[in-house]
Amino acid sequence: MKLAVVGTGYVGLVTGTCFADCGNRVTCVDIDQRKIEMLNRGEVPIFEPGLADLVRRNVQARRLSFTTDLAASVRGSDMVYLAVGTPQAHDGAADLSALWKVAESIAPHLDPHAIVVVKSTVPVGTNSELWTRLKTATGREVDVASNPEFLKEGAAIEDFTKPDRVVVGVRRPEVAQRLHEIYAPFLRTDRPFLSMSPESAELTKYVANALLATKISFINQMANICERFDADINDVRRGIGHDTRIGFAFLFPGVGYGGSCFPKDVRAMISTFEQSGLEPRILQAVDWVNEQQKLVLQRKIETHFQNQMEGLTIAVWGLAFKPKTDDIREAPALVLIDRLLDLGAKVQAHDPEAMRNVRQIYKDRIRHLDQPLDALDGADALAICTEWGEFRNPDFQEMYSRMKGRVIFDGRNLYDPQRAAQAGFVYYSMGRPVVGLS
Ligand SMILES: NC(=O)c1ccc[n+]([C@@H]2O[C@H](COP(=O)([O-])OP(=O)(O)OC[C@H]3O[C@@H](n4cnc5c(N)ncnc54)[C@H](O)[C@@H]3O)[C@@H](O)[C@H]2O)c1
Repeated sequence: MKLAVVGTGYVGLVTGTCFADCGNRVTCVDIDQRKIEMLNRGEVPIFEPGLADLVRRNVQARRLSFTTDLAASVRGSDMVYLAVGTPQAHDGAADLSALWKVAESIAPHLDPHAIVVVKSTVPVGTNSELWTRLKTATGREVDVASNPEFLKEGAAIEDFTKPDRVVVGVRRPEVAQRLHEIYAPFLRTDRPFLSMSPESAELTKYVANALLATKISFINQMANICERFDADINDVRRGIGHDTRIGFAFLFPGVGYGGSCFPKDVRAMISTFEQSGLEPRILQAVDWVNEQQKLVLQRKIETHFQNQMEGLTIAVWGLAFKPKTDDIREAPALVLIDRLLDLGAKVQAHDPEAMRNVRQIYKDRIRHLDQPLDALDGADALAICTEWGEFRNPDFQEMYSRMKGRVIFDGRNLYDPQRAAQAGFVYYSMGRPVVGLS
């Protein structure tokens, strides 16, 4: 098939590349000229494990190309995927302006048989509205399908090519059939292909993210109460997880969720509830708890140093909103760094992949270190915000010798508290007793 994928970000680039890799001819389109120029030079503008190789292979095989020419890419395409951003608008709702702009631009160039597939996360009713707009613009009934994306940054290719499920929202079974054909290479091991109405598909995406965010805020609050009573959230987690109705997945306390999806999707869902006259009490609490959770590590640091932060040097490990990505959108680490700077502390930061993005924000207001141990030199404390694999087994002795102060604030529970204490550190973690305080 010939495909156009509009929006060449985390989702569009992965979608286009994976479809190209199974023999389709794919053109990825973006308005960001710099991004397209990079891709045409063979550079991949984002970090996603395995993506650069896959892009290179498919470009070489002439199945994958990049352009800013939307009209040319849409002409003759069997499917036009929309993967543009749907960020949070000022009122919390999803900002659909990019989607509507693309809809208007593609309309004159759509082939009569083309399907427009919405991969962006969009509020319930958007596909229906898109259908109406395309009908007005073209004078005919264009097939529109909802096809929400569930990939996780950091494991995007794996998730796309081995999906837990593929969800499509269609009005006509023939459209579902054509979507099934394009997904068939990824469904060979009986992975579910779920066809439903566009409204149900749109809501499926938001309900999935809302529930995942709820799990995170829930366990974070439970971790906070554990701390008050010197209980250990890990023991509690094991204690509840063996109940098969509860399970273990996605119940790790941390510094709050970030990224380009959970925060904005929870708020967009809140907005949908409000517009529908329903009270989004659970989701409001999830959002509130998350905002509070982003401050927990910083409060521990301030309390430990008796609110005398001026002139202290704090090393921060992990800046991306989660491991294996360079994405720092809504990353909790940035909230911590901002606060530390406000209080007059100096920050020495390291992340294995996100340094380029972080440099653009902070420039010379913080020190950017390419090696984790270098970020510790002379530091009064270490704060850990992201659970990168390379932080999990550090050389505590080397850390001890490089740091000036011997205190670790671990927002991700990476270490065995006893080990950290034996190495001479005061060790704060999430939902577990503090160790090493004399
Ligand atoms: N990132 C994720 O993990 C993830 C997962 C599932 C779903 N989603 C959803 O997928 C959508 C895209 O997310 P993303 O993270 O890939 O966003 P992104 O910001 O990385 O990429 C969006 C791209 O769209 C481009 N764009 C904007 N307006 C355009 C226009 N008029 N024409 C052409 N290109 C245009 C931007 O330049 C950008 O490159 C969002 O709705 C998001 O909620 C994201």
